[in-house]
Amino acid sequence: MSAKRSSSSPPAFLLERKALVEDAIARHLPPRSAHAPELDDAIRYALSGSGKRVRPVLAFEAAELLKRPPARVDFLAAAVEFIHSASLVLDDLPSMDDAAKRRGQPAVHAKFGEALAILAAIALLMRATEVIAQGCERNKVARDVAMDLIAMASATVGADGMAAGQWADLAKMGAGASLTTIEFVHRRKTGRLFELSLRGSALLCGAHDAELAALDAYGKNLGLAFQVKDDLLDVEGDADALGKPAGKDREKTTFVDLAGLEPARALVRELIATASDALGLFGKRADRLQQLAVYVRDRDR
Ligand code: IPE
Ligand code: IPE
Ligand code: MG
Ligand code: MG
Ligand code: MG
Repeated sequence: MSAKRSSSSPPAFLLERKALVEDAIARHLPPRSAHAPELDDAIRYALSGSGKRVRPVLAFEAAELLKRPPARVDFLAAAVEFIHSASLVLDDLPSMDDAAKRRGQPAVHAKFGEALAILAAIALLMRATEVIAQGCERNKVARDVAMDLIAMASATVGADGMAAGQWADLAKMGAGASLTTIEFVHRRKTGRLFELSLRGSALLCGAHDAELAALDAYGKNLGLAFQVKDDLLDVEGDADALGKPAGKDREKTTFVDLAGLEPARALVRELIATASDALGLFGKRADRLQQLAVYVRDRDR
């Protein structure tokens, strides 16, 4: 199907896939330790609530597209959701976006305090790398692919990844930020994790070069679209539906401030159309990734 269909509700398979995601998360959680039960609780809480689980579902769908079973990538699916959930915990801290609500419930720092929130985020980020290393070992993934995945996951989070994007978002996105700056920020704080979900899955599933390039292009455009849409929802969305505060970006410069509502909507449409076109070589087999792109474009939460 094409990306033209309009729908703000998630495609049925996204909801079905959630069971697979929850199972992958549960099986890859760090074991409870006898010494820090509060930390274990905070880690589990950070993963709970109304998260849409888009990133792990992308990893599973890329595997399906490449005709490999979900078990081939389930550790990667868990790892990307660990990274994402950790990034949300940090993003909500009083020194960052200062948001008290997340995924329809009190933010981790609001429930457990800042110290546990920071430590839970660190634990989740490190667990993600551990889970990838162990998953590659268990599944007998070729050593160069395993090393690539670990390096990619670390770079996605690190000094030229999410950390850089988040800092630029806080420090440099004052009035008058250029489009180039905003794209730099979006790619690092959000886009690269989408790319990791898709490229990581493709590498694990033995995609050939053309398939890899197609999934890279899809991931890059989908990831950027996802953040521009998130910025639009900050203006137009309903806090109850979002499960997090709206109007949080007022003191920042987003695509929406820079270009206006309609151009930002047009940019989301354009990025999604480009993402959709990138899947051309897969034909009907990419139906579900096409539906996900439509959902990212039209979602209301
Ligand atoms: C929110 O991501 C943060 C951004 C990168 C825009 P999601 O909208 O995927 O959040 P959850 O996981 O569904 O809560
Ligand atoms: C969050 O961007 C990006 C990361 C967490 C890395 P936002 O600050 O816009 O996300 P929300 O709106 O709080 O979910
Ligand atoms: Mg933020
Ligand atoms: Mg935020
Ligand atoms: Mg936002």
